[in-house]
Amino acid sequence: MKVLIVGSGGREHAIAASVSKSSRVDKIYCAPGNAGIGQLAECVPIGAMEFEKLVAFAKEKEIDFTIIGMDDPLVGGVVDAFEAEGLRVFGPRKNAAILEGSKAFSKDLMKKYHIPTAAYETFDDPTAAAEYVKTAKLPIVLKADGLALGKGVLICNTLDEALAGVKEIMEDKKFGAAGNHMVVEEFMTGREVSVLSFVDGKTIKIMSSAQDHKRAKDGDQGLNTGGMGTFSPSPFYTKEVDEFCKKYIYQATVDAMAAEGRPFTGVIFFGLMLTSEGPKVLEYNARFGDPEAQVVLPRMKNDVLDVMEACVNGTLDQIDLQFEDNAAVCVVLASDGYPVSYEKGFEIGGLDRFLKEDGYYCFHAGTALNGEGKIVTNGGRVLGVTAKGADLKEARANAYAATEWVTFQNKYMRHDIGKAIDEA
Ligand code: AMP
Ligand code: GLY
Repeated sequence: MKVLIVGSGGREHAIAASVSKSSRVDKIYCAPGNAGIGQLAECVPIGAMEFEKLVAFAKEKEIDFTIIGMDDPLVGGVVDAFEAEGLRVFGPRKNAAILEGSKAFSKDLMKKYHIPTAAYETFDDPTAAAEYVKTAKLPIVLKADGLALGKGVLICNTLDEALAGVKEIMEDKKFGAAGNHMVVEEFMTGREVSVLSFVDGKTIKIMSSAQDHKRAKDGDQGLNTGGMGTFSPSPFYTKEVDEFCKKYIYQATVDAMAAEGRPFTGVIFFGLMLTSEGPKVLEYNARFGDPEAQVVLPRMKNDVLDVMEACVNGTLDQIDLQFEDNAAVCVVLASDGYPVSYEKGFEIGGLDRFLKEDGYYCFHAGTALNGEGKIVTNGGRVLGVTAKGADLKEARANAYAATEWVTFQNKYMRHDIGKAIDEA
């Protein structure tokens, strides 16, 4: 089988690594990919939003199966573009990717189908939004409706902050058109858990749970980032939580999408908050998490292509999804200064060791090959150093030991990824 993966981050590297283990794959392409993915796949210089070029490439190379890793192309309708040409592709169509693409849509869906989530109101007029926040309980959460690189959420502790937030999102358009509509939401407290799932339109199979660390600095200080590290499974995702979510959230979401005439095929990522009133949905994503994929996929026992094809074929009910009875931790190595400003182009050393050690992975996020063919830093998040262990503590020790193998100038990481494990 010839497989094309669309995307260029650590998530797509993790997908490529899983696909490369499949007995049925002959050749992997990745558009546009990165230096690490290039060790497993042939990278082609086509951007993830260049739908016509992607489709033409898939036809020319007779690609059997395409996997879309990123949110932007999914929300923009890349799956529809592939399907229109009779190409087989893994991911939700545009009318289903809206589950991630519009927070107002997803909140209205949850309300209509009684799926537990924070109370909210939606606004398209900044004056009405400002009047509302004046009466609302603090802290309050403001969310730009559309995709905003994970940054369109403001948690406001005072009325002044909330009013400034309404202005930033709806008037100054800090997050662009994503701020044409805004969701104002009740603030929830509790532990966060990421649950990824495979969906074929009607059946849903849950993957092992994970937890992300979104803030840049130790102790959850600093700015929100794309994710500074993850661990899987989450010790807080108990049997009771699982049973509650199976009863009220997972299948209910899949059935709601089908009932709305928007059957969902691909990965639904449930961002959950474990509140004192039970689990509630913080957000949906329409794709694997990054860096959740880096700790979940390496622990999956199934051939990932079997599972993804079953999603596209509508036969997911026949798949017995299985995960290893162990744990994994991913520590992101970033460029110092991320997510604000940072330098790029520094040579990276120590990567070869990951190819020799079982249970260790170095997923590339922001890397490139320089003119001399050397791997250099090329982004804020550079690498996701991942290790397995018999349990979470061992996996964490292994992952942090492996971060020492890697050298590059301005290397930055959090030192408390998985610290919550100690509180479990
Ligand atoms: P989202 O993109 O909706 O997942 O929001 C990003 C992050 O903001 C989440 O991972 C939470 O840490 C936080 N957040 C979002 N909504 C709420 C809420 N209603 N209450 C508390 N924290 C929230
Ligand atoms: N790690 C969070 C996300 O992928 O959205």
